Amino acid sequence: MNTIWHTDVIIIGSGLAALTAARHLEERSVTLVSPPTRDAASYLAKGGIAAAIGEDDSPGSHVDDTVEAGAGLVDRGAAEVLINDGMERMIDLFELSIPFDRDRAGKLNLGREALHKRDRIVHAAGDETGRYVTTAVREDLERRRSDSVTFLPGRVVDLVVYSGRVCGVVFIASHGEPDVLLAPAVVLATGGAGGLFSFTTNPCRALGEGIAMAARAGARLMDLEFMQFHPTALRVPDKPGRLPLLSEAIRGQGGRLIDEDGRAIMAGHPFGDLAGRDEISRALWRRIREKVSVFLDVREVDDFKAQFPSAQRAAKELSLDASKDPLPVVPAAHYHMGGVATDIDGRTSVPGLWAAGEVACTGAHGANRLASNSLLEAMVFGARLGRDITGVRRAPHALPLEKCRQLKELWTAGMNFSVHEQTLIEKVGQVMWQHVGIERCEKGLLTAEIQLSELHRQVGRYDPARLSVESARSIARAARRRKESRGAHFRSDYPELDPDQGRRPKIASEDQIPGKSGA
Ligand code: SIN
Repeated sequence: MNTIWHTDVIIIGSGLAALTAARHLEERSVTLVSPPTRDAASYLAKGGIAAAIGEDDSPGSHVDDTVEAGAGLVDRGAAEVLINDGMERMIDLFELSIPFDRDRAGKLNLGREALHKRDRIVHAAGDETGRYVTTAVREDLERRRSDSVTFLPGRVVDLVVYSGRVCGVVFIASHGEPDVLLAPAVVLATGGAGGLFSFTTNPCRALGEGIAMAARAGARLMDLEFMQFHPTALRVPDKPGRLPLLSEAIRGQGGRLIDEDGRAIMAGHPFGDLAGRDEISRALWRRIREKVSVFLDVREVDDFKAQFPSAQRAAKELSLDASKDPLPVVPAAHYHMGGVATDIDGRTSVPGLWAAGEVACTGAHGANRLASNSLLEAMVFGARLGRDITGVRRAPHALPLEKCRQLKELWTAGMNFSVHEQTLIEKVGQVMWQHVGIERCEKGLLTAEIQLSELHRQVGRYDPARLSVESARSIARAARRRKESRGAHFRSDYPELDPDQGRRPKIASEDQIPGKSGA
């Protein structure tokens, strides 16, 4: 009880954004508190990395496609940083000797995905890019910084705030007791919020907890209503939760979306099967609601098994033979464009708190992220944040030790699991899927808020499960506020885009989540 742990920088997370931030933090002791890297969305990512390296391509063209996909809400400056810095981050990756897919002459194979006007997606082992890249970055970090980087398995359940600064975290260590770790700089790299929906491609623990913690600390949130639904998760009978992703790259290689009678679903669309994810998800969802099954037909894709080993394995586990059977699909929550508002160096509105990766919102994606821009985002903004913190004068954490002991005692006495967490997450998932899903309306969103508030009342203040209800409620509220349809946010009662709503209001956290934490 008397030991007070401290470090120079705490990073909450161990995925690609967290690892890249740690790699770019110099002369600082860094502790990454989190579940293992293999549970991070970036490690599990089946897509590739978008990079304007083709002969007919340019960063400007990649920026234009990013801006166009984002449906009027992209912050062009942030998108330019994403794409221009992205070229440097790709060079870092090439130096790590990752086995990116190449043709016989050794030239990189560049794939095409939705809304990209050029072939620019780099892959490793087909749909295993996330695993290769994240593993290589982690190994490099461990090799180069073993003396100053520590991986601490644990679950962060709150930020410590003192005198308006974030100065540490409360976490549950592997022995199950709450503990406090202090640092003058805390980084959120907790990933997204897709796990709040019954059907998701995300790791199950992607519950938006970083958003809720940041909001409790008083940080501003942004664009929470924009959750991207990926059209092609492999439908696993009677099993909601995390579903295997069938990468969009499969459609880039000739995969076709068909209904149960073999009719092409996107036949009338100018971009066909490579239309925007939002449009395809809605088209599929409407069929599914009419009790029509929908499929991804990969029978014409050259060497599917070798090109998409992970999709092939997932199909096989369901006893499907992709060379003969069209694969049943369902849209699923995939990527959260919104999150904790940051500048291009990862600074949030609260001193001492930075954020990068999916939990953060720089505005680079607007209302709809361009495919394969997210591993790029993790690396670009992770690196910038690492350099930014390195440039800040080294300072001790702000919290008096007596306050720290009190906080630890408070959590030790108060922490309880007042509800069964898995049951709660399933209930939240149903509410979010039904009312805050692919098509939304005022009545449904209001119902969601009421039901989520009721769940919130059932969960104690020191119950770690409360964070997921808080983030779900924030997303539902933001969705109710936006009375138009734009990008990934579709309102059946306001089906048109309203040009007057093409500004991005930053949401004050107090407006979102009552009950700030603090020492
Ligand atoms: C995919 O390959 O379909 C997913 C990649 C992404 O979300 O960027």
